[in-house]
Amino acid sequence: MNFKIKLQERIEFADTVIENYLPAESGFSGKMAEAINYSMRAGGKRLRPIFMREVFCMMGGEGKIVEPFMAALEMIHTHSLIHDDLPALDNDQYRRGKLTTHIVYGEAAAILAGDALLNYAYETAFRAFDMAKNEIEFHRVAQGLEVLAKKTGIKGMLGGQGVDVENDGRSLNKQLLDYIYENKTSALIEAALMIGGILAGASDIEKLEKIGSKIGIAFQIQDDILDVISSEEELGKPIGSDEKNNKTTYVTLEGIKKAGDEVQKLTDEAIVLLCELTSENSFLEELFQSLCARRK
Ligand code: IPE
Ligand code: IPE
Ligand code: MG
Ligand code: MG
Ligand code: MG
Repeated sequence: MNFKIKLQERIEFADTVIENYLPAESGFSGKMAEAINYSMRAGGKRLRPIFMREVFCMMGGEGKIVEPFMAALEMIHTHSLIHDDLPALDNDQYRRGKLTTHIVYGEAAAILAGDALLNYAYETAFRAFDMAKNEIEFHRVAQGLEVLAKKTGIKGMLGGQGVDVENDGRSLNKQLLDYIYENKTSALIEAALMIGGILAGASDIEKLEKIGSKIGIAFQIQDDILDVISSEEELGKPIGSDEKNNKTTYVTLEGIKKAGDEVQKLTDEAIVLLCELTSENSFLEELFQSLCARRK
C-alpha cells in the first residue's frame, strides 16, 4: 500500500475518533458547541492524533484507551489555533480553508469557545479512566494526563505562544527563537509521541520527547517557509502573516535555503532516534519525511 493511501486511512480514523467526542449542539450553550465544532470540523491535517496512535501501536498498545487522548490533543491544538488567529494575536481571517472562528462567530464568542474547547479537551481525556482495565492502565492514564497538561501550559505551548506574541516587532536571537519554537510548536508534538508511548507502557519516553522536539521545530520552520512561499489557496490560511506581524522567524534570520536545510537536518536526526526505538514502523518515518516537503 502506498504512503498516500496509508495516510488517508489514518486521517479518516482520526476524524472518526474526534467526531465521537465532539460536544452536542444542544441547550442554551448550543451556539458555543457550534463554534467549537465549526473549528474542529474545518479539516486540519490531524497530525498530532495520528502521531499519538502510531506510537501507541508501534509500542504494542491495544484497544481504545488512546482515543480520548487523540481527540483531546486535537482539541487543545484547535483551541490554540482559534486564539492564535484572534485580532489581539496574529489577526488572521482564514484557517483550514475557512473563515476563522472570530470572523464567523465574533470575537467574544471565539475567545470563549477557545477556552471552553481547552477545558473540554481535559473532560475528554479524563474519559480514558473509564476504559482502564486494571491499576496499571489507570496509572498510565494519570501519567498521560500529566504530560498533556504540562505540554499545554506555561512550560509548553501556551508559554511559547506568550513569548512569541510579546516579541512581535523585535529582532530575536536564535536562542530565544528556539525557545519559542520548542514550546509553541514542539510541546504538543512531544505530548503526542510521549502519550502514545506512555499508554502503551513503553519505557523510553525521553527519546520520544526528543523526537517530538526535533520534528516540532522542523515543522514550525517549514510553517514559516510556507508563510513566505506558498499561497492562501494551497495553505488554507493567509500567507505573509509573519511579515504582517513583524515576526522574527528562521526565515528572516537565516533565509529560505538555510531554513529548508535545517528542516531536513532536524528530520533526519529525529529519524535516527526513531530507528533506535524500532525497526518496524516505516509509516512514521515516511510521515516525518513527507513533512519536509509539505505544501500545506
Ligand atoms: C498549525 O499547525 C500551527 C503550527 C504549529 C504551525 P498545523 O499545520 O498542524 O495545522 P492544522 O491542524 O493542519 O490546521
Ligand atoms: C503558532 O504559530 C503555533 C500555535 C501554537 C498556534 P503560527 O502563528 O505560525 O501558526 P499559524 O501559521 O498561524 O498556523
Ligand atoms: Mg502565531
Ligand atoms: Mg498564526
Ligand atoms: Mg505560521
